[in-house]
Amino acid sequence: MTLRLSSAGESHGPALVAIVAGLPAGLVLDRDAIDADLKRRQEGYGRSPRQQIEQDRVEVLAGLRQGRTLGTPLALVVRNNDHRNWTWGMSPWPAEGEPSGKGTKPVTLPRPGHADLAGVLKYGHDDVRDALERASARHTAVHVAAGAVAKALLATIGIAVRGATVDEEALRANIDAARKERDTVGGIVEVRATGVPPGLGSYATKDDRLDARLAFALMGIQAVKGVEIGDGFALAALRGSQAHDEIRTDRRRDTNHAGGIEAGVSNGEEIVVRAAMKPLPTLMKPLGSVDLQTGEAATALVERSDVAAVEALAVVAEAAVAWELAVAAKEKFGGDAVGDFVAAHRAYVERIAWARA
Ligand SMILES: Cc1cc2nc3c(=O)[nH]c(=O)nc-3n(C[C@H](O)[C@H](O)[C@H](O)COP(=O)(O)O)c2cc1C
Repeated sequence: MTLRLSSAGESHGPALVAIVAGLPAGLVLDRDAIDADLKRRQEGYGRSPRQQIEQDRVEVLAGLRQGRTLGTPLALVVRNNDHRNWTWGMSPWPAEGEPSGKGTKPVTLPRPGHADLAGVLKYGHDDVRDALERASARHTAVHVAAGAVAKALLATIGIAVRGATVDEEALRANIDAARKERDTVGGIVEVRATGVPPGLGSYATKDDRLDARLAFALMGIQAVKGVEIGDGFALAALRGSQAHDEIRTDRRRDTNHAGGIEAGVSNGEEIVVRAAMKPLPTLMKPLGSVDLQTGEAATALVERSDVAAVEALAVVAEAAVAWELAVAAKEKFGGDAVGDFVAAHRAYVERIAWARA
């Protein structure tokens, strides 16, 4: 069965939820490992005090028994602690009693760079909050939890995935300078996957291509505006003789300009992908906007926000890449029980004699 992921949850609603279907039975999950990734997502340099309110922890409501998957849909929940300040404003049912707490007054000042304006126009909302709550990247928390599950599956066949920021020192200096000026910054993250066998993805159709699937997954993350596979944009300036990775007699390569993917198929080298994040759009010194109630010129909504979330993006991007690789691995090796998945991988590696080469 294909691995599938769906999620729901607003930024200040009661909880974020994800359903992961198609996992083989018998996969051992480690709650601490999932929570450690949730913590990494929250810790990045330049983040707002919201992260001190949220102490993200995963809860599992279905699909797991005594720490092992049952082969049934896995239901993951991450609660929003901050919801306690928004119980009236974010009440799923018509709120009772006098309005209290946050989110009780409609937001009418859309922020450039956010879903705010397009969201209210598209869905016919009167309150920008009806758009921004879901568009917020808060729900990446539950995608990180699903990514941790994907990493557990990948680990059974020796695949490891890790995301990091590119040029950490310069990034932190940039964040410090922006904070002083009450501005925001973006940056670049890189995700690497080791132990990926040749043959994940396919050139058969564009939907099968692993590079396309990774780009889709990364562009699906809020604020990501560019994706590179391997040397990406830099390849455009090279000659063919410099850009491609020569094949040795053992079928390995000395270089990896391709980032581990050729023709949409993993080639056995390390997978290397990068994502560029734009500067965060909520500004403490807001840009020009319009008051949707009066039609008058105004400045955009100011709401508690990060200076940068690039380190958090590294963790979210790692989860997204892990998820896509797990989908591709499950597609290739199948298996209702995790032992079948592992055995199919072993038989395949023997067939291509990669180990012997
Ligand atoms: C982990 C993460 C945290 C983010 N935190 C913020 C934030 O605190 N403030 C903000 O304005 N945007 C933040 N963003 C970016 C916005 O969610 C995003 O720019 C917005 O939803 C518009 O979507 P788009 O940039 O993909 O067009 C964050 C993005 C990520 C991935």
